[in-house]
Amino acid sequence: MTGRICGTGFCVPERVMDNKELSGMVDTSDEWIRERTGIERRRIITEETTVSMAAKAAERALADAGISPEQVELIITATISSNVILPCTACEVQKEIGAAWAACFDVNAACCGFLTAFQIAQTYIAAGVYRTILIIGSESLSKLTDWTDRGTCILFGDGAGAAVLTAGEGRSFRGILHSDGSKGAALSCSGSHWKADENDSGFMKMDGREVFKFAVKRVPEVIHEVLKLNDCSIDDIDYFVVHQANRRIIESVAKRLDLDAEKFPMNLQEYGNTSSASIPILLDELRRNGVLKKGNRILLAGFGAGLSWGAGILDWIIE
Ligand code: ACO
Repeated sequence: MTGRICGTGFCVPERVMDNKELSGMVDTSDEWIRERTGIERRRIITEETTVSMAAKAAERALADAGISPEQVELIITATISSNVILPCTACEVQKEIGAAWAACFDVNAACCGFLTAFQIAQTYIAAGVYRTILIIGSESLSKLTDWTDRGTCILFGDGAGAAVLTAGEGRSFRGILHSDGSKGAALSCSGSHWKADENDSGFMKMDGREVFKFAVKRVPEVIHEVLKLNDCSIDDIDYFVVHQANRRIIESVAKRLDLDAEKFPMNLQEYGNTSSASIPILLDELRRNGVLKKGNRILLAGFGAGLSWGAGILDWIIE
């Protein structure tokens, strides 16, 4: 028995912030941001919250799958920007969508969050514990962003994506996750309640070059590793859905794998880096734009704070 994605959905805030607007806030330019990152605009919450976007994305994914909230047995929400510390975002989503019978918990794995939720869901389904699982990535990164730091504020955006997994026949693949906690300082955020000292703003801090080097080395490695583990060839993969952090990182990964960049779809120009939401938002867009076809084999790869990285493979079953 394996977990197959049978529905997807996403929700992003109404408010668009383009690079021109950002260049009025910090010393940067549209040209610099496009050239170094590929990002053109991002969505920023106003009325929306991590919970409201997650609930909307979840409702869309359930409608897409033709599954009622009462049928959901487990909700896993990946987030680093929950509305509150307690209760967890998954419980709040349960309340919003009426998934009364679901168990709920959150995963904090930053930009590997959705991939981690996917792998947990797959493991539960393979073990026969649950048959219908809702996984969500939802982030309000604008709350954790230092809007005076041009090294980070140009990168991030808000949004949510969701997928419904159901048990069924099909090939099951083993996923891989890695972490190197000794490199955690490269990308950190203490949060406003937990400032280390008066010099700590509480916002996200990042050594951009360090994260860049880490990503372009580790992502190709873990892609080879997951292919080998599952006895797949790189040519078996139709699309590589990689965490949407930076166009140059993704192009560099494609180059290192000796693959055409067209196999690495991107939407970061529209939404920036939405951390755990980036992969499910992209999956849903690809599905609705008719890019993903039933029978496609897709490789998901994530990397980010921790530092953590990983990859997984799935066969697309939606028409
Ligand atoms: N606008 C204009 N100039 C800038 C900006 C900006 N927004 N930011 C930095 N610069 C300047 C720097 O000060 C530097 O100037 P100097 O040469 O006079 O010192 C110059 O541009 C080059 O700076 P670099 O940091 O070397 O620029 P780089 O090409 O590395 O791009 C970036 C920076 C975009 C942050 C890049 O390093 C990157 O994308 N890193 C990965 C970040 C990432 O993906 N993080 C998310 C991980 S996922 C997660 O867990 C959330």
